[in-house]
Amino acid sequence: MKTTLLITLLLLVLLPIHGCQCKIVQFIFGDSLSDVGNNMNLPKSLAQASLPWYGIDFGNGLPNGRFTNGRTVADIIGDHSGLPRPPPFLDSSLSEDVILSNGVNFASGGGGILNETGGLFIQRISLSRQIELFQGTQQLIADKIGKEEADKFFQDGRYVVALGSNDFINNYLMPVYSDSWKYNDQTFIDYLMETLGAQLKASNQIQPS
Ligand SMILES: *[C@@H]1O[C@H](CO)[C@@H](O)[C@H](O)[C@H]1NC(C)=O
Repeated sequence: MKTTLLITLLLLVLLPIHGCQCKIVQFIFGDSLSDVGNNMNLPKSLAQASLPWYGIDFGNGLPNGRFTNGRTVADIIGDHSGLPRPPPFLDSSLSEDVILSNGVNFASGGGGILNETGGLFIQRISLSRQIELFQGTQQLIADKIGKEEADKFFQDGRYVVALGSNDFINNYLMPVYSDSWKYNDQTFIDYLMETLGAQLKASNQIQPS
């Protein structure tokens, strides 16, 4: 009995040495409410936060890619949890090391749960595409630190998924989109929820390469 207890205690002490040494970081999926600069790197996108007074209460006060005067909701929640602010996926200095220490933000102004949402903006990253980029990210990290460590890293991560308003504002409520006449209020919401559910399930299945 005592021996078992001792072994258990020893294991508990030893476990962290063999566990993932990775930090807890955030992965953010979203639209303009969470974009921190992805659209700035999509030159043809019409959804840009490049005018004054975007960013006036943040850093040097110049537009920084956030569609707000200050912090995004994800910034505020992350700051309160003591988590680093993830850089935009399209940032040119993004690397495996940056992802391992800061996470990454896939949010794109104009993006929605549905692929067709926000088409008027020409370029934006839909949730489907954000998830594809996340699957690529999982593969990249697994190649760098090994599958087991990577699985732990992604399991420990914090996830923000904040989309849906563009599916109404820049799709269902605009008659130029076919969804606006194909659905009614209830069937459109069902369609959104079904699509979102399937997308969330697909998000941790790395595509076979
Ligand atoms: C949405 O786009 C993704 C590619 O990003 C594609 O795999 C998927 O089939 C599309 N979904 C629909 C319903 O067209």
